[in-house]
Amino acid sequence: MVAPLKAGLAGLGTVGSAVARLIAQQRDLIEARCGRGIEIVAVTARTADKKRDLGQAKPRWVSDPATLAADEEIDVFVELIGGEGDPAKLAVKTALAAGKSVVTANKALLARHGVELAALAEKHGVALNFEAAIGGAIPIVKTLREGVSGNSFARVYGILNGTCNYILTRMEQERLSFAECLKDAQRLGYAEADPTFDVEGFDTAQKLALIASLAFGIRVNPDAVYVEGISSITPEDLDAADALGYRVKLLGVAVRTAQGIEQRVHPTMVPKETAIAQVMGVTNAASLDAEGIAPITLVGPGAGGAATASSVVADLCDIARGALAPAFGRPLSRLTECRQAPMQRHEGGYYIRLAALDRPGTFATIAKHLADENISLESIVQRHPGGRPHGGDDPNSPATPAPVILITYATTEDAVRRALNAIKREGVIAGQPQVIRIEKY
Ligand code: HSE
Repeated sequence: MVAPLKAGLAGLGTVGSAVARLIAQQRDLIEARCGRGIEIVAVTARTADKKRDLGQAKPRWVSDPATLAADEEIDVFVELIGGEGDPAKLAVKTALAAGKSVVTANKALLARHGVELAALAEKHGVALNFEAAIGGAIPIVKTLREGVSGNSFARVYGILNGTCNYILTRMEQERLSFAECLKDAQRLGYAEADPTFDVEGFDTAQKLALIASLAFGIRVNPDAVYVEGISSITPEDLDAADALGYRVKLLGVAVRTAQGIEQRVHPTMVPKETAIAQVMGVTNAASLDAEGIAPITLVGPGAGGAATASSVVADLCDIARGALAPAFGRPLSRLTECRQAPMQRHEGGYYIRLAALDRPGTFATIAKHLADENISLESIVQRHPGGRPHGGDDPNSPATPAPVILITYATTEDAVRRALNAIKREGVIAGQPQVIRIEKY
């Protein structure tokens, strides 16, 4: 009989207690699949005296994460504390340096210190597994690390934040404002009390940095990701997208270009018939364009106790079986420094919504500046402002802004920015233009 894998668990919040319960509930299944059991022998959390449901587990209490990480009895340290600094970082380093494998759901820690931690894991010949850090229960890390090992990637992209996808779905389906949907997301416990991290795209950016490292063999670097969130999206944008055959999703996209690896997070127009466009609500998805085969899309629950615990336990099962894959899919010496493609060089189609002042010459001015930048238009839609019809009877009445929606053919970020700045300087539009990038399929 092989001895069980002995785990120390730091962090007993929603995910930590779900991990303990899952291990207790699936004791026989885990033993059958791994050839040995998994036991949580010791735990730590911020407060000791809280009532928690840990299933059958009656683990020993340890005072703090770093002490638990160095505990002689444990084989593997499970970090569910969160945050890119200490105590999570110190505890993970302590465990790896003591020759213990680590399982973590901590995307912030991995995105910021992944290379340093992978080096420690490699030096001590132990695993650093982080399936739970990206897309909840979806096996994205395993698929990139092991599932498609024989193919190179041209592009990987995904819906990696359930809060944003929930908000965009409700806005689209019920024509509600961003603020109303955000309030509901908070009420339902999807969004954090300070939702900036989710809605401004930073959560997606950390996950994308990890995915890009696994897919392209680059050293993980969250600062190489261009980030824009969804707070400026309006129901009007979603209506226009719908009329043009698109949906708007917050995507994280990593793509190989002639200039290097482009990593970007922004609201994106995706054709309605694509797999990624069908992903609604809090669900997450990741699509892999691997060379030589048709795209693969993985879809599933991206957050919550049960979903995240599923990935933590799967990572523990790998360690119990003795499977050891390099943290970022290849030895550190084979990871390259990321050659970052500058966002100004991004090429693609654009959706542009302008509040054009309704007076003679406005269109000619807009068209001139687009032409000056070699931007070619696929379509133009002008929506009349409420009340006064376009080109109203009285030529002296004050100009009313009228929404104008432009869809461009492929151009560059630089050209679009220059053209819009020139149009703004002419005083023919009110407010800020809305710009949404269109992803090519
Ligand atoms: N805040 C994240 C989301 C959950 O909304 O998807 C965990 O990564």
